[in-house]
Amino acid sequence: MTVVNKLTRLLNITYPIIQGGMGNISDPNLAAAISNAGGLGTIGVGDLPINEAVYKVTEMLKQTSNPCCVNIPIAVHPNVSHIVQQMINLKVPVVSLSAGNPAPFISLLQQHKIIVICVIATVRQAKKAEKAGADIIVCEGYEAAGINAKNESTTMTLIPQVVQQVNIPVVAAGGIADGKGLAAALALGASGVQMGTRFIATKEAPYHKIYKQAIIQATDESTVIVGRRYNRIRRLIRSEYASKLLEIENKNDDPAIFFKQTTENYHKIGAFDGDIKNGFINGGQIAGLIEDCPSVYDLLETMTADAKQILKQSLEKLE
Ligand SMILES: Cc1cc2nc3c(=O)[nH]c(=O)nc-3n(C[C@H](O)[C@H](O)[C@H](O)COP(=O)(O)O)c2cc1C
Repeated sequence: MTVVNKLTRLLNITYPIIQGGMGNISDPNLAAAISNAGGLGTIGVGDLPINEAVYKVTEMLKQTSNPCCVNIPIAVHPNVSHIVQQMINLKVPVVSLSAGNPAPFISLLQQHKIIVICVIATVRQAKKAEKAGADIIVCEGYEAAGINAKNESTTMTLIPQVVQQVNIPVVAAGGIADGKGLAAALALGASGVQMGTRFIATKEAPYHKIYKQAIIQATDESTVIVGRRYNRIRRLIRSEYASKLLEIENKNDDPAIFFKQTTENYHKIGAFDGDIKNGFINGGQIAGLIEDCPSVYDLLETMTADAKQILKQSLEKLE
């Protein structure tokens, strides 16, 4: 099953489904599997040292000849200009810029024929990104896993408002894990979806079985927001470590202790070692809907087929 719309045409992909950046736990095999299956796989560079980021991206590029993407979280990486230059040198086809002002980097990337996605969380940011020349907007709602925006807008409210205000393709992120979510995003005017949480529980994902199980066993009440006191909002799956972070937050005005305990090192301890007493695991609110661990190809194909069916049936019900 294929979808032809302005997003899939622009990115030259089969399914209108993008993998979001996953910080330092991004994995080349998973990203390449998503691109090989017909979606857009992504390596997030998080705050990785340049050589590690280049290694992971090179591995992804080796494993797929389909379009794939690199996510650069601007406020997180210590040397954005350098990493941008490296991605140009590697001839990465698509770059997504999140967590900061993308404007200084957009035209430089585009001069090298790189498609630029900007991840935003408000209408104001979407308009600014379009004005700065972005090719695609990803709108991320508060349901999403990982670092979230201060204004806490949900995907349901954000997508139609952004779609109304910009002319470039809009992708919905946050709270999508199946065909119903894809159909809803398309109905709201998006041209596709970006997912993070759903891809954790896939066969190709290299994460510890405790992390995958935590996603599969999650209910609608299984995620928690930490860091609101310090304006560094992050959505995690509840765990002993998440409770420890909340305790730190309750007791300390100074953000330094909290920041020290939420570095990417603790992300790796949770995700790769499965040690959720001593490290955190990101997870979005949609984890409650996820009950299996399919291959990436089956996931993309089933989601798209289900979305098509749902949209067709909805129209029939309206008659
Ligand atoms: C483990 C993990 C790490 C993430 N790290 C990043 C990141 O480095 N940069 C970024 O822009 N988004 C990051 N996100 C957010 C995803 O890219 C994506 O937008 C989000 O997960 C979508 O919402 P969902 O989790 O409900 O699918 C991360 C998400 C997960 C699950």
